[in-house]
Amino acid sequence: MSKSRNLLIATVAALVVAGSALAGSYGLGRPATEAEIAAWDLDIMPDGTGLPVGSGDVWTGEELFSEQCAACHGEFAEGVDNWPELAGGFGTLDREDPVKTVGSYWPYLSTTFDYVRRSMPFGNAQSLTDDETYAIVAYILYSNDLVDDDFVLSNETFLDVEMPNAEGFIVDDRMTTEERFFKGEPCMTDCKDAVEITMRARVLDVTPEDETAEAEVVQAAVTEEAAEQPAAAEAPSIDPALVAAGEKAFKKCSSCHQIGDGAKNRSGPHLNAVFGRVAGSIDGFKYSKGMVSAGEDGLVWSDETMAEFLSKPRSYIQRTKMSFAGFKKAEDIDAVIAYLKSAGG
Ligand code: HEC
Ligand code: HEC
Repeated sequence: MSKSRNLLIATVAALVVAGSALAGSYGLGRPATEAEIAAWDLDIMPDGTGLPVGSGDVWTGEELFSEQCAACHGEFAEGVDNWPELAGGFGTLDREDPVKTVGSYWPYLSTTFDYVRRSMPFGNAQSLTDDETYAIVAYILYSNDLVDDDFVLSNETFLDVEMPNAEGFIVDDRMTTEERFFKGEPCMTDCKDAVEITMRARVLDVTPEDETAEAEVVQAAVTEEAAEQPAAAEAPSIDPALVAAGEKAFKKCSSCHQIGDGAKNRSGPHLNAVFGRVAGSIDGFKYSKGMVSAGEDGLVWSDETMAEFLSKPRSYIQRTKMSFAGFKKAEDIDAVIAYLKSAGG
């Protein structure tokens, strides 16, 4: 409430300043009048600050309420259909579906007066006089059994009314009570010596995919290709120096790929007997869709396709999940290929 009040005043003040400045320089606008400022500045504080002088009794209020409010809020403020109930609901606040009304929930009567004067009747806001508003609010109190039928609500009796839920709200004091959590010295002792990144989420492949569908596709592709592919052809003689260089270069692959006896799939598929194999065809390995469809389109690992893949994996296989940037030097590729052949058959 006080925040909106301050905001309002700030806005009005800005209007006034802007108005006079513009009037001088551009001949546009004018200062807001007292009446205009008063029309904006109508909020009422819990302590009664801002209340207009005036009064209204329960019976006058009942008549007005019946004419102007009951169509939506019910003759007894009990609410019609889904329109809000303004009365009742006592003792329901701790239930799963509390009935929050002026009587059961609102802590300050000022809120009711302010709300009705500012925004009701719905569709015809600010048509009520101050006395009518006092009378209607008196009737809402009466509907909640909070005043007797001879009660007259005025700027003078306003604070006499006791709202049942006045103590039901707590002041938000987190700024002070929780300050130590935000302002305290951060603990910088007993820290871990070094932090090492062992794996990246992208490589770990944490997003589940529809595996069955992919596996079927892969299986079909393998069977088809296997029929066409002659078994790994006559092994050409391999240069041991090249293999040694390739073993070194393979360090760039070994965090994800195993090769050799007992090689298993890790974050990348094992690379045994990779030459002559359809891309994306190791059973039980979760390949990217890109790798699978490359295999379906007929990609088989050969010296040429491997060299192209390893020079720029991500442009060779769209959306591959192999996060390896690619070798810059052709020698490295030749060496790794030689090593893959010697170590993985
Ligand atoms: C055409 C239907 C309609 C009429 C007539 C109407 N209201 Fe409302 N009233 C509403 C609606 C809708 C809301 C809820 C508005 C919202 O949540 O933004 C509401 C909300 C309220 C609330 C706040 C309820 C709450 O718990 O949040 C009060 C108090 C209220 N009206 C009082 C009155 C009074 C007094 C009159 C007659 C002067 C009146 N209304 C006339 C539709 C109406
Ligand atoms: C960061 C982990 C990572 C690194 C490093 C890596 N790979 Fe891979 N590799 C993968 C993943 C994951 C796949 C599966 C890609 C897909 O499904 O798109 C893969 C796929 C492959 C394939 C296709 C295998 C098949 O079954 O079709 C080959 C060949 C390959 N990598 C070779 C290499 C080589 C050689 C290196 C080193 C130069 C290397 N990779 C580096 C993770 C890696």
